[in-house]
Amino acid sequence: MGKNSAEHAEHADDRDPVITMRDVTKTYQMGAMQVHALRGVSLEIAAGEYVAIVGASGSGKSTLMNIIGLLDWPTSGAYAINGVEVARLSKNRLADLRNREIGFVFQRFHLLPRTTARRQVELPLFYAGVPDRTARRRALDALAQVGLGERVDHRPDELSGGQQQRVAIARALVTQPSILLADEPTGALDSQTGKEVMALFHELNEQGITLIVVTHDLGIASQAQRIITLRDGEIISDAPAARQTSPFLSASTNGQGARPAIPAQEVLA
Ligand SMILES: Nc1ncnc2c1ncn2[C@@H]1O[C@H](COP(=O)(O)OP(=O)(O)OP(=O)(O)O)[C@@H](O)[C@H]1O
Ligand SMILES: [Mg+2]
Repeated sequence: MGKNSAEHAEHADDRDPVITMRDVTKTYQMGAMQVHALRGVSLEIAAGEYVAIVGASGSGKSTLMNIIGLLDWPTSGAYAINGVEVARLSKNRLADLRNREIGFVFQRFHLLPRTTARRQVELPLFYAGVPDRTARRRALDALAQVGLGERVDHRPDELSGGQQQRVAIARALVTQPSILLADEPTGALDSQTGKEVMALFHELNEQGITLIVVTHDLGIASQAQRIITLRDGEIISDAPAARQTSPFLSASTNGQGARPAIPAQEVLA
């Protein structure tokens, strides 16, 4: 971790929270059965932080990300972005907030088939009502920023996996969001390409974007400033990455950490 990141982590508490959650629950009703995906999650994330969310499959990571990203709603509890309680907003204001403040990157890219990179990246701007010429210029700038200036007319099936993910990142960035959410962004990539994508995220975070990454990759998690570990819909650890107190990490990557609270097999299942 660079010196800057360490300083950011130390000062994280001084900055205004962009994300505040209090006792957030999410319960899915499946016929007669209830699935408690989140069981009372409280957290604060400050502007400019770089947070990794880890935990076993099914522990609630994507559910939490979707709520943070305004793609889904809590069953109960309070959630505020930049101090604005989202439950109080109309549908239109919510959509507006999502378009303005949040960029989302998914494991499987979620690109449109048969659509050029340039067009994929322009689309969010058209939805936001940005005039055509401006949208075109900003899309090209965003593609250049992720190193795809030479591939703007390629369709997804004409790009490598890493290039497709970079198109998805350009699409997430083109609206200049303050928060970038990535759910297993390297899950479908080989390790070298994954490293390149993470280096790009790191750079964006250094430029000030608040970055939240869900990952199964312990190497990636330890690059964040802070690691939140979920188990069965609850936060069981929330600590600076440097201290490596996450049971997820101490169970697997370093022998010197505290005795693992959960066995590695369970965490990595
Ligand atoms: N739409 C849904 N309807 C019903 N149950 C759901 C739904 N989405 C998720 N769940 C359940 O909620 C729990 C949490 O799921 P979630 O997708 O958040 O896990 P995750 O930590 O992201 O797992 P993974 O690492 O496998 O992606 C799981 O038990 C899952 O089966
Ligand atoms: Mg998931």
